[in-house]
This record gives sequence, C-alpha cells and structure tokens, in this order.
Amino acid sequence: MEKHPTIVGVVGGVVGTILLGIVVWLTIAYTGVYNVAASDQHFDAVRWTLDTTMHRSVANRAGGVDLPENVSEDLLAEGAGHYAESCAHCHGGPGQEPAGWSRG
Ligand code: HEC
Repeated sequence: MEKHPTIVGVVGGVVGTILLGIVVWLTIAYTGVYNVAASDQHFDAVRWTLDTTMHRSVANRAGGVDLPENVSEDLLAEGAGHYAESCAHCHGGPGQEPAGWSRG
C-alpha cells in the first residue's frame, strides 16, 4: 500500500466528490423531497444560505445604483402611501407591527 496519494487518486477523489455533489443536487431537485411550503420554516442552513446570498448580492450591486437627486415631499408622500397600502401589512412600518397572518 502506498503512503502518498497518487495524482490519479487525487483526481479520482476530486471528480468523485463533484459527481456525488451533482447526484445529491439533482436528487433534491427531482424528488421534491425538500419542502418549500411558506407555512414551514427552512432548515437553518438553507435559511442562512438564502439570507446571506440575498444580503451579499444586494451589497455587491447597491453601490452602482444612482439615487434620484431631488426627491420632492410629494413624491416621498406618494411612495409612503404606496408602502402603507401595499407593503406595511406584511413588512410593518414605523409604529406598525406586521399583521399576524403575514407571518406564515
Ligand atoms: C403578503 C405579504 C407581503 C407583502 C404584501 C409584501 N411583502 Fe415583501 N416580502 C414578504 C416576504 C414573506 C418576504 C421574504 C422575507 C424573508 O426572506 O424572510 C419579502 C421580502 C421582501 C424584500 C426582500 C428583503 C428581505 O428582507 O427579505 C423586499 C425588499 C420586500 N419584500 C419589499 C416589499 C415591498 C416594497 C412591498 C410592497 C410593494 C412588499 N414587499 C409587500 C412578504 C410580503
């Protein structure tokens, strides 16, 4: 038995690991074994992956966004009105907790 790994052994291990990863990935995708229902929480590792990916993605791209220079009071009020009407019942707002039903 050899004491040191051979190139063939190392390459075989890397390729085998990649193939195993592809098999696991496709098995999860095609069997539907993973529950994506909004009524159940993700596994902690999945939640962490989704949250971290979203925050890092936004952070990486937000620097290139040009903010409008002169935002009038009317435009701000209009936006706040849209938020209050369409978003606040789930996301909450200053002094407003999200609606209980939106937690699901
Ligand atoms: C029916 C409930 C609901 C409504 C209404 C709603 N959202 Fe959401 N929103 C969600 C949920 C659920 C998420 C995912 C949160 C998570 O990933 O934990 C989300 C995520 C987001 C995110 C991503 C950031 C984050 O923290 O996850 C933004 C931005 C967002 N919503 C903005 C809005 C805006 C703007 C409106 C109104 C136009 C709105 N939402 C209306 C439920 C809602």
